Amino acid sequence: MALQWFLFLLAAALAQAQGDNKTPTLDPAVIQSGSFVDGSTSIGANEANQSPSLTSQNNFINFCKGKTLTNGLQITTGSCNGIVMGDLPAQNRMVSVVITKPLNGDTIESGKDFNITLQVQNLVAGAFTNADATYYSAPQQLKGGSIVGHVHVTVQNTGPTLNPTQPLDPTQFAFFKGINDAGDGRGGLSAAVVGGLPAGNYRLCTLTAAANHQPVIMPVAQRGSQDDCVRFTVTGNLSNSAQAPPTRPATQRTITPPTPVLLVLLVLLALPVQPVQPVPPVQPVQLVLLVLPVLLVLPVPPVLPVQLVQLVQLVLLVQRVQLVQLVPPVQPVQPVPPVLPVQLVLLVLPVLLVLPVLLVLPVPPVLPVLALPPVLALLRVPTVPGMAKAKRRLLRQQEKGEEVLSGLLDSLEGAISPAAKPTY
Ligand SMILES: *[C@@H]1O[C@H](CO)[C@@H](O)[C@H](O)[C@H]1NC(C)=O
Ligand SMILES: *[C@@H]1O[C@H](CO)[C@@H](O)[C@H](O)[C@H]1NC(C)=O
Repeated sequence: MALQWFLFLLAAALAQAQGDNKTPTLDPAVIQSGSFVDGSTSIGANEANQSPSLTSQNNFINFCKGKTLTNGLQITTGSCNGIVMGDLPAQNRMVSVVITKPLNGDTIESGKDFNITLQVQNLVAGAFTNADATYYSAPQQLKGGSIVGHVHVTVQNTGPTLNPTQPLDPTQFAFFKGINDAGDGRGGLSAAVVGGLPAGNYRLCTLTAAANHQPVIMPVAQRGSQDDCVRFTVTGNLSNSAQAPPTRPATQRTITPPTPVLLVLLVLLALPVQPVQPVPPVQPVQLVLLVLPVLLVLPVPPVLPVQLVQLVQLVLLVQRVQLVQLVPPVQPVQPVPPVLPVQLVLLVLPVLLVLPVLLVLPVPPVLPVLALPPVLALLRVPTVPGMAKAKRRLLRQQEKGEEVLSGLLDSLEGAISPAAKPTY
């Protein structure tokens, strides 16, 4: 009868102990008698140099008495945590992590974003509590038999070699991140290292934790590591070592449009050197044909009238120069190349003047098609009445022509003054 009564009380105590987090006293039902002994006379005691275990009759419930309590905080000067360790998974549900990126021995480029990726098994990932207020403040818990928690990744510089002989300083790390999401839901987790790392040698390790950040606690001692590490090199001289031109990480480049004057010079340089030849005046109608389609399809910006005035001024200037050129005395007949450099320059000039305007304007898709025919028409202009006559006059006008050309360029530079350039 007494035994039955005792068993009843025991069962009631056990039931109460499940999830009783309020009673300030230890329920006798949860006292672990295994802690009564120091192990020196227990099974397994034959292993040499064993340390005797501390013992307790009350689960060490007052172990932290008189000490600084951890109390949910990360106390950098040390503390005593009195919270029980909690639920342990079965041996066949132990946590195991493998790092899938970067790979061991990899070389990656400095200062460049990269992802750390890993695969974890038997962890209900993505659970983390407030690390500032609940650090180690609750026991490890399971869900569906697996530890509920999260994985941290930590990257440390290993110094001049990937294989240092001194332990690394755990207070120093180049990158640290708690992966607080559940990843792909199948154990695939990743952490972005934004901005990458400086050049150097590194060790990357995982730190798998329960929800309250304590390292995961496993059911058996002899096992594979729950965590993984890889060592890799970060170099800013990847290309140098490959004897190739350095490829820098893509930096933002602002593309400055070449100035019209520069474009003219480039066109001149690209043209075959020819004696300066008399050039028939470019017909105003031709110019209008060239510019008109462009103007018609473009919305008129406020800056356009100014550009037009300058365009007209330049056309007049060009015509004057041509008149000067056409005055010289009679010269022996010279073969004339089909398209003359000066002609090309004259044809290109109006386009160049309009180009900056086009660059700042939204270009409608129809534009190239409309602009092309007049340009092509102008390029096919070599035979113009009066040209044959002028040809005969001008062999010795080469030097003079060059002077005129240089004068033209000077005038151009003047006409396209900084004030006239559109702002980009
Ligand atoms: C890192 O992973 C994210 C998510 O998969 C992806 O969008 C991003 O492009 C990756 N970054 C790099 C540098 O591979
Ligand atoms: C990269 O190359 C520069 C110049 O060659 C050198 O000064 C620097 O130390 C190198 N950095 C690394 C990490 O090798």
